[in-house]
Parts: sequence; structure tokens; C-alpha cells
Amino acid sequence: MTASLYERLGATTGITDIANDVVENHLKNPAIANRFKSTDVNALKNGAATFFIMGTGGPEVYKGKDMLATHKGMNISAIEFMAVLDDALDAMAKNNVGQREQEEVLFVLYSMRADIVLV
Ligand code: HEM
Repeated sequence: MTASLYERLGATTGITDIANDVVENHLKNPAIANRFKSTDVNALKNGAATFFIMGTGGPEVYKGKDMLATHKGMNISAIEFMAVLDDALDAMAKNNVGQREQEEVLFVLYSMRADIVLV
């Protein structure tokens, strides 16, 4: 049987490293950095990591709201959504995630678009 995506990404330690890099990338990405200027960065890193752990088949550790409730009223554009995907791909490359796993993560992220863009 194929290992879960959670296991193939290095389980909680590996995914936490990736999620921290995704958030750091957002803070440096001119397309979206302004969105996070009053954000508690450590809390967001924790939210991103726990969401990612749960969404890839790991333990149910995420305590936040669903994606629609989280992003409702933010008026997020398609360009901003692409910027987040770019940041995720960059973080995965930096953490030596394999091509197959990058594709799987990208697909999972893309599938959330309707709950995030212009909601
Ligand atoms: C598939 C794409 C995305 C995923 C999986 C995602 C996931 C998340 C998660 C898990 C949280 C934390 C919720 C919590 O801990 O309660 C969050 C918060 C947030 N997201 Fe997203 N997000 C995505 C796209 C975007 C985009 C495109 C933007 C706009 C550039 C955005 C802006 C924000 C902001 C501003 C917050 C709140 C930060 C704060 O607490 O101040 N997200 N997102």
C-alpha cells in the first residue's frame, strides 16, 4: 500500500518545516504580503501546519475554521490565490519534496479555490 501523503511529506516535522516556509514566503511576496501585516505570524504558522497535517492524512490537529469561514469577506483575487500556490511550490522545492508529492499537494490546494477566491 502507498504511504499517505502525510508520511511521504515527512510527517509532522517535515510538514511543519514546509508550512513555516510557506508563511515566510507570503511575508516576502509583494503580491500578498500586505494581507498579513497585522497577522500573528506564529499563530498563522501553527494554523498552516496543523491544517496541512490534517489535510494530507495525518492526525486531526487543526483547530481553526474551515476555508470558507476563514477567508469569507477578504475579497481574495485569483492572482492572490496563484501567489499562494507559487509560495507553496517554492517551499516544497526548498524542502526537497518529490515531484509526485508536489503535484498531489498542488491539486489539494487548487481544489479549495472555490472556498477562497471572491467569497
Ligand atoms: C489553498 C489556498 C489557501 C489555504 C489552504 C489557506 C489556508 C489558511 C489557513 C489554514 C489559515 C489559518 C486559519 C486558522 O488558523 O484559523 C489561513 C488564514 C488566512 N489566510 Fe489563507 N489560505 C489559502 C489562500 C489564501 C489567500 C490566496 C490569501 C490572500 C492572499 C489568504 C489570506 C489569509 C489571511 C489574511 C489569513 C488570516 C491571517 C490572520 O489571522 O491574520 N489565504 N489561511
